[in-house]
Amino acid sequence: MKRSPLLSWLSRETSQMHRQLESTPLLSKLLDDSISLEEVSEVLDRFLWAYRPIDRALEASLSRFLPTYRTPLRTSLLIADLAALGQPVRKQGTMTFTPPCTLPETLGILYVTEGSTLGGTMIADKLEQSLARIPRQALSFFSLGGSGSPSLWEKFLVIFPSDPDSHDFSQELLRGATRTFRHFLDAFSSRDSTARPEDPQTTCLSDHHLADSLSP
Ligand code: HEM
Repeated sequence: MKRSPLLSWLSRETSQMHRQLESTPLLSKLLDDSISLEEVSEVLDRFLWAYRPIDRALEASLSRFLPTYRTPLRTSLLIADLAALGQPVRKQGTMTFTPPCTLPETLGILYVTEGSTLGGTMIADKLEQSLARIPRQALSFFSLGGSGSPSLWEKFLVIFPSDPDSHDFSQELLRGATRTFRHFLDAFSSRDSTARPEDPQTTCLSDHHLADSLSP
């Protein structure tokens, strides 16, 4: 499916954050054949930590801004995968993620969550063949990108606007995407399991006129 100029712009603007995330110590091991079961469990645990508040934020904003759009709750997949590996959930729900206030901000968050499934299939294949030999039934989170037809990414492309309504629309879109990438960077950068990274305080725009103009 052809990319809209708006999507190509968003991708360019956030590509450095994607590279930064891929090269965090734990995530960079995902494509390494020598990854251990312990390290895979730590990755799933950190994703679970990060996704708990994102799932909640998206549930609220999707029903408000995109009521017909469906995306699986990552939290349940991650809990099931950890259970299939016989691993406990270590990090508890202490990260925060402020729910988005506008449609473009919601689209920016979805760009990151749905886009992340693009690399997932490759990661699942790698993990199955790695030293850790992760069984398919413990790879539902990483296999998400290849599990439906149309895929999550294709469904996202259908709702993604081809042109921004306005400069404010693009900026809100970018803000949603960058704060989501930052949230994952926080989750994968803190070494200490007692650390409590927090989403920088973002509040709904007080300017009602702008908020209204960004709503569908
Ligand atoms: C080791 C970890 C990761 C690898 C190897 C990886 C790899 C990839 C690959 C191969 C693509 C497809 C690029 C294309 O088809 O043009 C992709 C796209 C993407 N990934 Fe990742 N990824 C990783 C982690 C993540 C994480 C943790 C997130 C966010 C939570 C993320 C967000 C995205 C997004 C938003 C896209 C779409 C980018 C675009 O083309 O506009 N990725 N990734």
